[in-house]
Amino acid sequence: MHRSDRLPIGEVARRTGLSVSAIRFYEERELVTADRNSGGQRRFLRSDIRRLSFIQIAQQLGFSITQIGSLLKDLPENRTPTKRDWTRISKVFRKDLDARIATLERLRDRLDGCIGCGCLSLNNCALYNPDDSASRHGAGARFVLGDQPDV
Ligand code: FES
Repeated sequence: MHRSDRLPIGEVARRTGLSVSAIRFYEERELVTADRNSGGQRRFLRSDIRRLSFIQIAQQLGFSITQIGSLLKDLPENRTPTKRDWTRISKVFRKDLDARIATLERLRDRLDGCIGCGCLSLNNCALYNPDDSASRHGAGARFVLGDQPDV
């Protein structure tokens, strides 16, 4: 590849909408790799623009830097995702998002029982008590009879 095909960090920042410091951060985490020119300045591949866009999308979807790094490392030769890669990875994202949405919906529904309650009871609160063992005693905060000490 011709050296002039390489982009300085400011140009990559302009094209991706990322700050220079964010790009340096991703470089430190080895999500992108820059060469150095004779003056020691970073030079990025054009494909790094797509790679950085991928990282931004994945972060917006709630994936950690570690997860994103491992997705990128799983690609042959650690390459930037192609259209085909993106389709495959999108399915992974979709599955993960569906699972997280389902968990959040369950938590939201349990939270409804806490509104106006405030007991934060380890025994009674559905947020602490995912099997909802207290619900058989009725809605709202209450002491679970089976947990009462013998008097
Ligand atoms: S605060 Fe959750 S049931 Fe009381």
